[in-house]
Amino acid sequence: MVSPKNSEDDIEEPLINNSSSTELTNSSNVSIPTPISSTNFNMSFIFSLLASLGALLFASTVWYITSSTEYIFFIWHPTLMATVLLMATQGTIVLQKAESRQEKDGALNFHKLMQSITFLSVIGGFYIIYTFKSEENKEHFASPHGKSGLITFSLILIQTIAGSTLVNFPGVVGGVAKAKSMYKYHRISGYLVLSLIWLTALGGTGADWTKSQFDHPWVWLLATGMVLVGIIGGIKSNKMKIR
Ligand code: HEM
Repeated sequence: MVSPKNSEDDIEEPLINNSSSTELTNSSNVSIPTPISSTNFNMSFIFSLLASLGALLFASTVWYITSSTEYIFFIWHPTLMATVLLMATQGTIVLQKAESRQEKDGALNFHKLMQSITFLSVIGGFYIIYTFKSEENKEHFASPHGKSGLITFSLILIQTIAGSTLVNFPGVVGGVAKAKSMYKYHRISGYLVLSLIWLTALGGTGADWTKSQFDHPWVWLLATGMVLVGIIGGIKSNKMKIR
């Protein structure tokens, strides 16, 4: 639960320095007094746990609904979109938690994997609902959920392609240094896209089909609230500066 202190800019510092103190410190530790002594809580870990559990609650509720209802082709839409939501959230949390250089390298690999699954799942989920509605001769993008879904789908594609270009083909933007200096824009747009994913998914839970299967809005709101608090709590203000 405790990891060495390391800011965004001191990535060249050794993980273990030679200072006289042997105690590991963490910028996000909060000390809470207890009757015996004060206890350190790593708030970064607690926020990430809250967000992970919220995302898992939302996604597993969707999967519970789709696995217990009568099978139709449509059910792959919510099934895949719940995967999008879980993977995109986990892919964000892992980067928020990483502090040391070593953690950041591992986190970037995990982030790439999560966002690759998000990318494929959102294409699948979009293709399924689009063809399903075409086959049923229903109007496309008629509901607020359908409209925000189209915007979210497009932005996920742009965000993933842009992020992948910065990491895998930095030459496209003028080299590695330039690409790294653009990470902050990718981070900010990433939080915007993640917010849209959650708003769109919440809209999906309000659709007539979903309510006919599972009408307990408090579960969706509880899960979303946990993710909101967990993700906002995990944001490090020094990472959000543009200049
Ligand atoms: C990020 C997540 C999601 C995205 C991007 C998304 C996207 C979309 C889009 C674009 C449509 C309209 C397609 C068309 O009109 O041709 C749609 C429809 C639909 N979605 Fe989603 N969706 C997401 C999550 C969900 C979830 C979690 C559920 C259910 C729990 C859901 C249930 C529905 C239903 C029932 C429809 C058909 C009714 C309507 O068009 O509003 N969606 N979705």
